[in-house]
Parts: sequence; C-alpha cells; structure tokens
Amino acid sequence: MKKNLLVIGIGFLLIGASIFSACTKEGAQGIPGTNGTNGTNGADGTNGVDGSTKCTECHNPAKVELAATQFEFSKHSYGEAAFEESGNVGCTPCHASEAFLYVCKNNIPSTFTLNTTTNKYVNDYATIATQSIGEITCVTCHSSLHTTYGKEDLSPLTTVAPVKMTMWAGAKEINLTADGGRGNLCVKCHQPRPFTASNGNGNVLDYVAIAANPTAVFYDAAQANTLNLLKPGYRTHTHYGTAGAVFAGKGGVEFAGVAYTNSAHTAVASCQDCHMATQTGRAGGHTFMAVGNFSGCNQTGCHTDASSTSTSIWVAPRTEVKKELDDLAAKLKINGIDILNRNPDATTNMWAANSTNKYDGYLNIYDPINNPNGQTNNPGGMFQSPSPSSSWTAAQKAYNLTLPLITLTNAQMGSIINFQLCLRDYSLGIHNYKYTTALLQNSISKL
Ligand code: HEC
Ligand code: HEC
Ligand code: HEC
Ligand code: HEC
Ligand code: HEC
Repeated sequence: MKKNLLVIGIGFLLIGASIFSACTKEGAQGIPGTNGTNGTNGADGTNGVDGSTKCTECHNPAKVELAATQFEFSKHSYGEAAFEESGNVGCTPCHASEAFLYVCKNNIPSTFTLNTTTNKYVNDYATIATQSIGEITCVTCHSSLHTTYGKEDLSPLTTVAPVKMTMWAGAKEINLTADGGRGNLCVKCHQPRPFTASNGNGNVLDYVAIAANPTAVFYDAAQANTLNLLKPGYRTHTHYGTAGAVFAGKGGVEFAGVAYTNSAHTAVASCQDCHMATQTGRAGGHTFMAVGNFSGCNQTGCHTDASSTSTSIWVAPRTEVKKELDDLAAKLKINGIDILNRNPDATTNMWAANSTNKYDGYLNIYDPINNPNGQTNNPGGMFQSPSPSSSWTAAQKAYNLTLPLITLTNAQMGSIINFQLCLRDYSLGIHNYKYTTALLQNSISKL
C-alpha cells in the first residue's frame, strides 16, 4: 500500500512538473535567474513512471472516468449485499472484493469434505476471516491495477479460468469460451449456491437421482426424519446467481423428455457482449445492465434487427418462457394450494413481472418473520412450516400448527428447483432459450 502511494506520488509530481513547465512557456517572460552550481553526481534513482502519458492512458474521460460513472449505476456498486455479507466467509467469495480475490488467487476448490466428527459435509468454497470484506469495485475484476501503471494493467481480468461449479461440489465445470473466456469471470460469482441436504449429511443434493426417480418421496413429515434430506421452508431456494448456470446449460434437474441443448449464445456470446455493450441510457458499459440496450445484440456477426419489438428474437421467446413458468406454477399445487409463494411487490420481488401470479421463487410456507405478508399475498392459503423458528411468538407457533402439512415428490422438488432457476435467470429465455424451455417443459410433463 505504502509502495503504491509512493509511486502514485511520483506520478503526480511528474504531472505537476509538466503542468508547471507548460505554464512558464505561455506566461510573461520573467528575468532569467543565475545558473546554479552543478551538484555532485549521486547514484541514479530508478526512473519514475511517466505520469503525464502513462497515467492518462487510463485516467481520461473516455476510460476510467467513464467506467467509474457508469459503475455507479451498477448493482455491483450500489447494491448492499457486499456490505451486509461482509465477515461471512461462505457468502463473501461472491459478494465481497477481498474474498473474491482470495478464492481466485488461492484456487480454493468447490469441493465438499466430510467432517468425520460431525458426520456432516462442509463446503470448502470459502475465504478466510481476514479476507471477507470489501465492496465490489474496479480492482475486484481488474486485479492488476497500478502494477505497471500502464493501460495493460486493465486487461488481465482477475480470472477467466473455467469455473468448477460450487452447486455440484466441483463435479461440473462451466467454461464459456467466447472472447477468451471472459464470461468465466462473471460466472465465478453468477452461479447458484449449492442446494444441500441440510437435514441429512449436508452434502449437495443429487439432482441426477432426483431426475431419475420422479415419483419417489422427497419430503414427508410422516416418514422417518432421517429420510428427509431437507425440511422445506419459505426460504428453500436456489440462490440468486442462476444466470450463469442457465446460460451455460448446467444447473437444472434434468428430467427425461425434450433433449437438453443450448442456444447459440452459450458458445458464441460472452456475458460482456450483452451486459457491457456500448452504453445506451442507463444500460451497457460498466453499468453491466442489458435491459433496453440492444447494441450488443446488433453487433457485427450477431443479429441485425434486435429490438424490444422484434417478434422472433425478443417478444415470442420471452412470451413463451413466461407462459411455461405460469404453466409450471399452476401444476405446483397440492389440494389447490400453491407450493410457490406470490409476492406482488416489485421492490422486494425483482422477478414479479416474470410470471402472471408474481411468484418470487420462494415457497408458500408460513414464515411470519421473513414473509410477513405471505398470508395476504397467498389467498389460497399456506403450508405449515416444519421448522418453526424459536423467535416466533406463541400465537404464531399455534397458527402454524393449524396449517396443512406439505409433502413433496422428487418431481415436485425438481420442478421447484427448475422454476427458481428459470425465474431468477431473469432473461425469460434470452440467455439460453433451448435449455430453459427443455427444463420447464420436462418439469411440466412430470407433474
Ligand atoms: C490501467 C489503468 C490505470 C492506469 C494506467 C493508472 N490508473 Fe490510477 N486508477 C485506475 C483505476 C481503475 C482507479 C480506480 C478508479 C475509481 O475507483 O473510480 C484508479 C485510481 C487512482 C487514484 C485514486 C486513489 C485510489 O486508489 O482510489 C489515484 C490517485 C491514481 N489512480 C493515480 C494514478 C497515477 C498517478 C497513475 C500513473 C502513474 C495511474 N493512476 C495510472 C486505473 C489506472
Ligand atoms: C465478485 C463477484 C461478481 C463478479 C465477478 C460479477 N458479479 Fe455481477 N453481481 C454480483 C453480485 C453479488 C451482485 C448483486 C449485488 C447486490 O445486490 O448487492 C451482482 C449483480 C449483477 C447484476 C445486477 C443484477 C440485478 O439484480 O439487477 C448484473 C446485471 C451483473 N451482476 C452482471 C455481471 C456481469 C456481466 C459480470 C461479468 C462482467 C459480473 N456481473 C461479474 C457479483 C459479481
Ligand atoms: C456462488 C456465489 C454466491 C454465494 C456463495 C452467495 N451469493 Fe448471494 N448472490 C450471488 C449473486 C450472483 C447475486 C446476484 C444475482 C442477481 O441479482 O441476479 C446474489 C444476491 C444475493 C442477495 C440479493 C441482493 C439483492 O440484489 O437484493 C442477497 C441478500 C444475498 N445474495 C445474500 C447471500 C448470503 C447471505 C450468502 C451466504 C449465506 C450468499 N449470498 C452467498 C452469489 C452468491
Ligand atoms: C465485474 C467486473 C468489472 C468491474 C467491477 C470493473 N470492470 Fe472494468 N472491465 C471489465 C471487463 C470484463 C472489461 C472488458 C475487458 C476485456 O474484455 O478484456 C472491462 C474494461 C474496462 C476498461 C476498458 C474499456 C475500454 O474502453 O477499453 C476500463 C477503462 C475499465 N474497465 C475501467 C474500470 C473501472 C474504472 C472500474 C471501477 C469503477 C471497473 N472497470 C470495474 C470488468 C469489470
Ligand atoms: C444475448 C445477450 C445476453 C448474454 C450473452 C447474457 N445476458 Fe444476461 N441478460 C440479458 C437480458 C436481455 C436480460 C434481461 C434484462 C431485462 O429484461 O431486464 C439479462 C439479465 C441478466 C441478469 C439479471 C439482472 C438484470 O436486470 O440485468 C443477470 C444477473 C445476468 N443477465 C447475468 C448474465 C451473465 C452472468 C451472463 C454470462 C454468463 C449473461 N448474463 C449473458 C442478455 C444477455
């Protein structure tokens, strides 16, 4: 840190020196001073960095200044999760800068390891306490900034390596090869968190087994507790970063049926193509937003007529995926009660527009703390929570017991996972239409 400041200081001295000499050229001629005596030659110092040219390779209105302005419109910057999750070694590899740099630099594996004392699996994908903070900022992705002090410091992105997926305990990998693998940078964070057998051995759920045995019981309070891999609750969910997995065509419960293939994007497009396209309005560039910005879609070699009104590549696929989400939700019911939770409030449910009944991807299971409006939002009733919190009042606990118990087959659990994955991908099929529709259609036909 000290070293950096010193070099930055030298840089500024040089900028200062050049500004000063430019001024004396233009100002009124002063009286020449007497020549000073020559100094004795000391050892030459190391050359300082040429401040006036090198620094401005980046520090100019079209580069750093523009990117920094755009970045204020990025949720990476204004989002609060980095602040909220700081200190948590398991959450911060995707949420905080120092933690992300730590897991990249040290190649922390995505494996799960059995702790033989507790007999529970532990997720190895974590940082250390001293490296579990930091807002996401320029250096998170450009980890070599201010090393040579030239513009080449921008281009080595922190990582472009293939990503061993944490949700599969590292057994599957995403490698987006377009544009030198730069999409892997995004996927390192924008991948789902593992769904674990929290009531069982803590290992990742076996999606292949769930898909292969759709009629088997997944959860039933009536069966021996040890058979229930997890107890469903309101927050039983696929953690938000589903875009990367859907884009790569990995991460769903792949029930048999329509073949699982990928749209062209998976192989030919990088996340940056659409999310960092030339800025228009408050999308593009370092806002990282794609909404309403079609300049990436219409770049040479891709589409020519992409817009929010083009039927074949925008309206039709998105309408279809929304309909399939609606159809799947309609089948995810028990005795007429929705398994999925409705939340019409677009400020707390960012996916409200992606299904007609405004599902948020959580489950319709009573939770007075985390889902206080659940009872109003779900007029058809809710399910009882199998694990009421000790912080609930006696009245809340008593009310919970009046609600019906939920049971889930593998077909239902897998469909819930697929619904969450496709809803929270947010793009309604634009990321990977073929994979999205295969997951949704095959889920629908299993129920
Ligand atoms: C590779 C591009 C690049 C080059 C070259 C570069 N910088 Fe920076 N610099 C950045 C970025 C990116 C930031 C962070 C900007 C922000 O957060 O808004 C930054 C921030 C700074 C800051 C603000 C302090 C801080 O750490 O946030 C100073 C001072 C600075 N640079 C000085 C210099 C000087 C002096 C040079 C030349 C010797 C230089 N930079 C060369 C990219 C560069
Ligand atoms: C260090 C991890 C990390 C990396 C790398 C990363 N992201 Fe993110 N991204 C996040 C997190 C965390 C959020 C949510 C932040 C919050 O809400 O506080 C987010 C938010 C976003 C959002 C806004 C989502 C919304 O809810 O509106 C977009 C779009 C996005 N990222 C795209 C990208 C793209 C494209 C890349 C690659 C160029 C990328 N991200 C790289 C962690 C990362
Ligand atoms: C494997 C990476 C990863 C891990 C680990 C992870 N998250 Fe996230 N999380 C993300 C990404 C990516 C997003 C933003 C996704 C988007 O908006 O599409 C996100 C979003 C969130 C949000 C929503 C922020 C918003 O925009 O409203 C919260 C809250 C959050 N995470 C909390 C946590 C907590 C708590 C943990 C640890 C228990 C955790 N995350 C672990 C990747 C991760
Ligand atoms: C989430 C990752 C991420 C973050 C955070 C990020 N960048 Fe970038 N930045 C990129 C990617 C990806 C590129 C494209 C480089 C490539 O493809 O090699 C890029 C390119 C750039 C460029 C070159 C653009 C050009 O016109 O050549 C500049 C300048 C830049 N970033 C500055 C910044 C500054 C300043 C910040 C902080 C305010 C920042 N970046 C934060 C990912 C990021
Ligand atoms: C072909 C263009 C395209 C590519 C490539 C692409 N996206 Fe998207 N992405 C979109 C569109 C369109 C949306 C939906 C924007 C909307 O309607 O608000 C979206 C939405 C998202 C969101 C939800 C937040 C938001 O409001 O923008 C995240 C996060 C995201 N993409 C991340 C990624 C990641 C990570 C990759 C690479 C693995 C990627 N995207 C590749 C077009 C693309």
